[in-house]
Amino acid sequence: MKTLILAFIFLFVLSTAHALRAEGGYRLWLKYDLISNPQKLQSYQQAIRGWMIIGDCPILTAAKKELQTGLEGLLGSTAPFSDELKNGLVIAGTYKDAPLLAKANLGDKLKNLGPEGFVIVNTTITDKKVIVITANADAGVLYGVFHFLRLLQTQQNLEPLDLVSFPKIRLRLLNHWDNLDRTVERGYAGFSLWDWHKLPDYIHSYYHDYARANASIGINGTVLNNVNANALILTPLYLEKVAALAEVFRPYNIKVYLSIRFSAPIDIGGLKVSDPLDKQVRQWWKAKAGEIYALIPDFGGFLVKANSEGQPGPQNYGRTHADGANMLADALQPFGGVVMWRAFVYDDNIKEDRAKQAYNEFKPLDGAFGENVLVQVKNGPIDFQPREPFHPLFGATPKTSLMVEFQITQEYLGFSTHLVYLGTLFKEVLDADTYARGAGSTVAKIVDGSLDKHTISGIAGVANTGTDRNWTGHLFAQANWYAFGRLAWDHQLTAEAIAEEWIRMTLSNDPTVIQPVKKMMMASRENTVNYMSPLGLHHIMGWGHHYGPAPWIKDKHRDDWTSVYYHKADSSGVGFDRTARGSNAVSQYCPPVAKKFTALETCPDEYLLWFHHLSWDYKMRSGKTLWEELCHRYYAGAAAVQEMQNTWNALQGKIDEDSFRHVQAMLKIQEKEAVWWRNACVLYFQSFSRRPMPAELEKPQKSLQYYQELSFPFAPK
Ligand code: GCU
Repeated sequence: MKTLILAFIFLFVLSTAHALRAEGGYRLWLKYDLISNPQKLQSYQQAIRGWMIIGDCPILTAAKKELQTGLEGLLGSTAPFSDELKNGLVIAGTYKDAPLLAKANLGDKLKNLGPEGFVIVNTTITDKKVIVITANADAGVLYGVFHFLRLLQTQQNLEPLDLVSFPKIRLRLLNHWDNLDRTVERGYAGFSLWDWHKLPDYIHSYYHDYARANASIGINGTVLNNVNANALILTPLYLEKVAALAEVFRPYNIKVYLSIRFSAPIDIGGLKVSDPLDKQVRQWWKAKAGEIYALIPDFGGFLVKANSEGQPGPQNYGRTHADGANMLADALQPFGGVVMWRAFVYDDNIKEDRAKQAYNEFKPLDGAFGENVLVQVKNGPIDFQPREPFHPLFGATPKTSLMVEFQITQEYLGFSTHLVYLGTLFKEVLDADTYARGAGSTVAKIVDGSLDKHTISGIAGVANTGTDRNWTGHLFAQANWYAFGRLAWDHQLTAEAIAEEWIRMTLSNDPTVIQPVKKMMMASRENTVNYMSPLGLHHIMGWGHHYGPAPWIKDKHRDDWTSVYYHKADSSGVGFDRTARGSNAVSQYCPPVAKKFTALETCPDEYLLWFHHLSWDYKMRSGKTLWEELCHRYYAGAAAVQEMQNTWNALQGKIDEDSFRHVQAMLKIQEKEAVWWRNACVLYFQSFSRRPMPAELEKPQKSLQYYQELSFPFAPK
């Protein structure tokens, strides 16, 4: 009988293990499966004999649940909760509230870590060998617990453990471009996570998992709704729903923020104007802030897209962006809220290179913004293109706190069917040297506030999440969410180290999986740049939905939404002259950077056609002509996707079949679309260059007209 029961239990465990493996990516990087390497498992089981969390506030309760789930999963219930001090105990708690920890003498280490940093050490307390996870505040303990679990998930050594970590940037936010009808602007992973209709009464369990995932990578805020905002979000009906989400996220140290529509006082407030200097309008926002904070005492603040792409704003009343931002900042200030005012502004009525307009608008306002205002700047001067130089506003406004906004959702990078690891893109921008206060003035140092000594700092990522079972559509798109969070916490991490962590936690700790997958991820963004818009080309995608190639887009109601505006191809050459001979956008950069981009000898190939209009026969560093080089880049990009397929196919059997097949199918789409991009672009540019394709490259079989006639009326947008 006993054997029968045991056999039954064994079968049950096996079948649930199988079911978990086939969870379709839902568990993200928080899988907590039993550690598969027997030696590692044994060494962890010996080192960790139990755990204890001191304190029971909501954040520590969340940390407790996580530690328990994590350890039970990774080690198989061998480390139970314990309330006695013993060898191998993992003890977590805030330093000040856990007298037991005082014996570990960690006060010095904790000194400069702020409320979110943590310490993880192995040490001895009254003769017992223990692992201590501690912090100045509850949030730090939560982050420490997640980090400790990450060490186990990635199979790191636990001896010696002497870790100190704290976030360099204060506000680390996701921006959801989610609409109230649950569609997601530029969302490629299903519908919005927020089930507005059923809120506030029905709380999906995935809201908790969303919060856990974010907390595990240090994200501490979320803007719930689209920057193209609907004013209804500020009505009592919706604020109650927002409050319900805030309650779920609070134990994970995540604050909620809202995008507001500048005309809300008119749209929902019955006022005639939304002029930021109007007394009634100012009063309306003050009252609204009070109403919000009564419901959500830790509400984070507002994100604002104003006077951009048709959105209302202070300029409708002849006021400046600073007037608008400061009015909202004044309303939020008594409650500790912030305003994140977007610098993504451009206007086709202004006859000036679009790339220059945000700088022209915001540079003169430096010093005019209130203390609780951050200006949120996209990573590049146009719009999240596969590659852009860093935005010239970085470094140009020393008196203004600048946030950087990245796009995690792949609007211009193949939606959710292309494997493009963005860790390298994020790093390229963060590490870019603006020279604003001399060499070493990187974008990262401007964003974290250290360069100009700002006390508030922030970073935002436009989220790629949705109701798809795996959250992000493509399994590898999870890595972009992950990388964003990890870099928001510590921009000094390398893209490669982050990729490796993610692979270990998501796919496998087997080196024969890690190495090839990491290599593939690290090259993936450059490959995509090559098959989409090499050598600094940009904004040549499909009209409206932005799906696929369409360098032929012209004659639309806005010039700056056409492709020809950006590539300027003609019989003499291709590229946008942004030197002093052209739009002089280079002049917005500090002299060393401007000089580098201006001189053809020093302008990196990556930005060549961003800054220069060059003849088709221009001699490249490679010795090829520009025309030949362009063709070669397109072909190399597409060929690299075939290589990715080979790499992936060789992994069958080494990772779970479900994930294997999913990625395999996605790579097939990517290959097809890479060839589509390549052929359409090469044929189109050939119609200007009038030069033959390099003989060694296989000619496209279809005509340019074929590509121009493709239409995708229901592509997501
Ligand atoms: C892009 C994108 C829009 C979005 C805008 C923004 O232009 O295509 O959908 O609203 O950026 O960032 O505001």
